[in-house]
Parts: sequence; C-alpha cells; structure tokens
Amino acid sequence: MMTFRRLLVAGLLSASVLWSVPSSAGVAEGKKVFDANKCAGCHQVEGPAKEKTIKDQMAKKGPELWYAGSKFKAGFLEKWLAAPQPVRPLAYNSLTEKNRGDHPRLSPKDASEAASYLMSLKSAEVKPLGIPAAESPKGRILFLKKQSCYGCHSMRVRGKMAGGLSGPSFVAASERLNPDWVYAYLKNPKVFKPVKMMPVYSGILSEAEMKELASYIGSLN
Ligand code: HEC
Ligand code: HEC
Repeated sequence: MMTFRRLLVAGLLSASVLWSVPSSAGVAEGKKVFDANKCAGCHQVEGPAKEKTIKDQMAKKGPELWYAGSKFKAGFLEKWLAAPQPVRPLAYNSLTEKNRGDHPRLSPKDASEAASYLMSLKSAEVKPLGIPAAESPKGRILFLKKQSCYGCHSMRVRGKMAGGLSGPSFVAASERLNPDWVYAYLKNPKVFKPVKMMPVYSGILSEAEMKELASYIGSLN
C-alpha cells in the first residue's frame, strides 16, 4: 500500500516536472527565435512605454509586445505567428491586404517557442481579475450604441464584417484578447499606448462599464 502510494506520488511529481520544463525552456528558445528573426526591429519588447510623439511611435512598424503575455491568449499567438493575418485594417502599424507578405511566418515549432517567450512578457498593470468573456448585454449596448466603439472597430455581425476600420479588428477577439487586459487598457490606456489615436474613456465610462465592455469584446467571434 505504502509503496503504491509512494509510486503514485513519485509519478505525479515527475509528471509535474515534465509539465513545467518544456514551457520555461520554450521561453529561452523563443527568445532565440525572436532575435534570429529580428522581431525587435519592428516591435518594442521592453516596457514601460517610452514613446512621447507620433514619430517615436512610428519608429517601430509593429504594435508593442512588451505586455504581450498580459494581452494575448497563448493559442492565438502560436497560430498567428505561423500564419499572420491582418488585424489592423489601416496601413499604419498593420499588415493590410497590400503588404500581407511583410510579416515573418514561423515554422510551427518556432511559432510555439516564440509564443512561450511572448507569453512571459507581462505587465503588472494588468491584474488577474478573471473577467469572464461573456455576451454582456450591457457591454453590447455600450459598444454598439451608447459609445462610438463600433464606429472605429470591426466585428462580425450575423456572419458579415461590420463596423469601423480605424482601430484593430475585434473579429475573433475571443481567441485573441484577455478580457483583464482590455479592462486595464480602457482604464489606463497611457500605460500601454502613450501616443494614442483612440479616445480616452477614463472619466467617461465607470469601472463597471469598462468591465462589461471587456467581457463583451472578449466574447466576440
Ligand atoms: C517588418 C516589421 C515586422 C517584423 C520584422 C515583425 N513584425 Fe510582428 N507585426 C508587424 C506589424 C506591422 C504587425 C501588425 C499586424 C496587424 O495588426 O495587421 C505585427 C503584429 C505582430 C503581432 C500581433 C498581432 C496582433 O494580434 O496584434 C505579434 C505577436 C507579432 N507581430 C510578433 C512578431 C514576431 C514574433 C516577429 C519575429 C518572428 C515579428 N513580429 C516580426 C511588423 C513586424
Ligand atoms: C476614433 C476611433 C476609436 C473609437 C471611437 C474607439 N476606438 Fe478603440 N482603438 C482605436 C485605435 C486607433 C486603436 C489602436 C490604438 C491606438 O492607436 O490608440 C484602438 C485600440 C483599442 C483596443 C486595443 C486593441 C488591440 O488589439 O490592441 C481596445 C480593446 C479598444 N480600442 C476598445 C475600444 C472600446 C471599448 C471603445 C468604445 C468605448 C473604443 N475602442 C472606441 C480607435 C477607436
């Protein structure tokens, strides 16, 4: 009996070791993939944000990744890096249909390692609140009617693309974005993006409304 239990404990211990080793090894490997592909030439991976002018912002072609682990879902990064698709419909800081070929496309192995590395880059500003992705009716009304979010962000409505084009698309945001990050971003956008084109909603929306919006965006397919 004792031996069996000891075996069981040993088995569990080695299972948990096996479980944790590949992910931390992936971080170091992913950093190598990142360096080898010169990803930092287009992406900021060191926070906090230092950009003060639009020129600073334009110095990097791609969006900041220094808080990628707080913003994205791991599965999304892995998939996207192997097959990059436009997220931002306008030319600035984006892959559009015209420059679709611009982004490095990684092998599945490199994509998985780079995703582990990016998921290790977190911002203390994003608290793990566990805001659920949910089709919040309040969030929906705020997004579509009470505020102008829909005028700048696209989404799928009954299978069709709809909404504005000046901000990143929220099509499949449920696979891409962590609702806790969306909330932190709405609450204190300057931390993540000091030079912004999007209006600042702190003082306009209550914290509860921001949470409803984060839930709603996190549920979009
Ligand atoms: C030539 C510049 C350039 C290089 C080099 C580059 N990127 Fe990008 N990256 C971009 C642009 C531009 C976007 C924005 C795409 C969009 O929103 O349509 C982007 C977007 C991303 C995104 C985020 C997608 C999202 O949903 O917001 C990730 C993650 C990313 N790149 C990782 C990488 C990695 C890893 C490498 C190196 C293997 C890399 N990038 C190299 C320009 C670049
Ligand atoms: C005037 C256009 C505009 C309006 C209105 C607007 N946004 Fe944005 N939004 C943007 C732009 C542009 C960005 C990209 C970051 C930047 O440059 O500020 C962005 C970025 C975002 C992001 C980060 C997305 C990402 O993947 O990085 C979220 C989340 C977001 N907006 C939510 C909202 C919500 C919620 C509302 C309504 C309360 C809203 N936005 C209203 C233009 C807008």
